[in-house]
Formats: sequence, C-alpha cells, structure tokens
Amino acid sequence: MNDYIMEVKDLKTHFHTKKGVVKAVDGVSFKVKKGEILAIVGESGCGKSVTSQSIMRLVGRKKSEEVTGEVLYNGENLMLKTEEEMRKVRGKDLSMIFQDPMTSLNPAYTVGTQIAEMPLIHERTGKKTAWKRAVEMLTKVGIPSPAKRASQYPHQFSGGMRQRGVIAMSLACDPDLIIADEPTTALDVTIQAQVLDLLRALRDDTGAAIILVTHDLGVVAELCDKVAVMYAGKIVEQGKIEDIFDRPSHPYTKGLLNSVPRPGKRERLQPIEGQPPNLHDLPNGCRFAERCPFVMDICREKEPELLAVDSDEHTSACWLEEEGRENDNRRDSKSRGAEEVL
Ligand SMILES: Nc1ncnc2c1ncn2[C@@H]1O[C@H](COP(=O)(O)OP(=O)(O)OP(=O)(O)O)[C@@H](O)[C@H]1O
Ligand SMILES: [Mg+2]
Repeated sequence: MNDYIMEVKDLKTHFHTKKGVVKAVDGVSFKVKKGEILAIVGESGCGKSVTSQSIMRLVGRKKSEEVTGEVLYNGENLMLKTEEEMRKVRGKDLSMIFQDPMTSLNPAYTVGTQIAEMPLIHERTGKKTAWKRAVEMLTKVGIPSPAKRASQYPHQFSGGMRQRGVIAMSLACDPDLIIADEPTTALDVTIQAQVLDLLRALRDDTGAAIILVTHDLGVVAELCDKVAVMYAGKIVEQGKIEDIFDRPSHPYTKGLLNSVPRPGKRERLQPIEGQPPNLHDLPNGCRFAERCPFVMDICREKEPELLAVDSDEHTSACWLEEEGRENDNRRDSKSRGAEEVL
C-alpha cells in the first residue's frame, strides 16, 4: 500500500519574463505521509510559495508560467487533471491556507456563508446542513459565540479570528492534505502560538497531513515531523526534524540555524552573509557557492545532487558530503588493503 498522500517529483516552475526565465522552482521532489507535517523552510524568494501554488495548480495557467514534473496525490498525477477536475480537488481533498486571510475571504459575504459554501459545492449538502457545518467548524477553531460570529462579515473579525475563519474554511470538507503558507506571519505572537496549536490538534484529530511553509525555525522545531530546506529554487537538504536540527549537513542549513534564536541554544547569532543568486541568472555549480564559507573549486563548476547523508531519509546536496564519502571509501579500501596484507 502507498503510505504517501503526496509525492512531488522533479517539480519545475519557470516564469518566462522580459528579463529572461525565472527558475523559481527548479527540480523539487519530496514525499508526505498521511498525518505527517512537513515544513518547507528557506529565505525569502527561494520558491516556497511558488512550490505550494504549483502543487495546487494555481500557477501554470498562463502561457508564461511553465510547470513540469509530477504531483501525485494518493498516486494520481494532479498535473494531468483539467481545471474543472482540479476545482473539485481544491478545498475538498487538498486545501490551502494563505498568509493573508483576506486572500481567501471575500469581504462581501459573511464568514459563515463562505465556510458553508465548501460543503455546499463539494458535498452537495443542503443549505441548513452546510450552515450547521460552518458553525461547527468555527467552534472547532475556537471562535467564541460561533453561531453569532458566523453571520458576521470578515471586517468584523480581528486578524487572528480571520485566520481561524480561513482555517475553518479549509477544514470544512475534511481534507487529507493542508498546505499552509506562512499561516501565522501576519499575526501577533500569542495568536501565532494558538493557531499553531490548532493546526497540531487538527492533525491529531483528523489525521490530515500538513505542508507548512514558514521561515520560523522555532515553529518547525515545535510542530513538524520533517523538513525540506529550500535555496534558490531547489531543496538543498531534507530530513526528519532531528536530522536537520541535530545533524545538519548543508552549510546553508547550518547558516540558517545559526542565524535565528533557538530554544535551549545560547550561541551568538550569525546571519548568512550575502544574497541569494538572481533566479534568472543562476550560477554554474552550487547555487549557494557564493555565500558558502567552505566553498571549493568543484562547487563553482558542477551542481551537487541530493544524496543520502546518514539515512535514506536525510539527504543533502553538497560537495563536502561527497568528499567526506570519498574519504570514507578511501579509508575503507586502505583498511581492506591492510587486512589483505596481514
Ligand atoms: N508570476 C511570477 N513571475 C515572475 N517571477 C515570479 C512570479 N511569481 C514569483 N516569482 C519569483 O519567484 C521567486 C520565488 O518566489 P516565492 O514567492 O515562491 O518565494 P518565497 O520563498 O515564498 O518567499 P517569501 O518567504 O518571501 O514568501 C521570487 O524570486 C519571485 O520574485
Ligand atoms: Mg512565500
């Protein structure tokens, strides 16, 4: 049986612009199991949102947006679906929570109406059942006086409540996978924590998988099972939470970890110097080479591949890893040679 709710294979999203081709996502692959929370992290502009939007097929509709690769949802390739088929998938099987709740909420309709629309469209329930579901969902996400609130408009909600409303909407049809793109960035710290607790509780409750896009490593450490670290359109390291936090391999991951405060760690913070490369004028070789404190000649010549570090699940794309592996092999063959002599 296939345990993976989602398998993304070699996803590429290239934008054709006047300035040239912007390779916003350039060969991204990852898998998410049922009930798992995967974090996608990386600096601003590295392609996290474009990855999420490409999975939902929200980009790729215009001629200038070229999306290739496979997005398997329960083994079915979403890339081959028509727009109409995708509309049935969105909101029901897969749902997305955007950073700004007003992207998802229409100011002209009550919050209850917008939540109720989900079961109305996707499950063809009656209006009464749909409204009941809307109130139920608002209760679930912790909105006080949910029956009254359901009849109010988005502007009558506070920012935190609006984001809860959006979460309620995205959960109304019990999706298997939720993609949450910086769902708490616009909120203050206390509300952030509440929304994250809510996401965790929902995962525990419904068994939905979550892809969480964030640049907050604190959130990642607390909430997620796995992490994919993106840099300039590629995943440079991927692994279980302890792989990434306790045994990071890629210098970029190490740089990210050193640049933010982490619970329990008191070392001095060191930002990563320099800027990511221009996505329409990418260098040969490793995209992080320019900023890497360990750069070698080969890094500027050839692009490193994602290879296993200490387990098949922990992968990193760095020539240092490769070199370490060769040294180990050399050591191994030397010791084998010594054994033969003995
Ligand atoms: N429609 C578009 N046309 C051209 N370039 C685009 C388009 N959409 C996004 N990009 C570019 O793709 C790159 C990746 O953008 P994306 O929004 O995925 O970054 P991100 O990792 O989500 O960053 P942030 O953390 O700031 O949200 C950026 O350089 C962005 O300018
Ligand atoms: Mg983004």
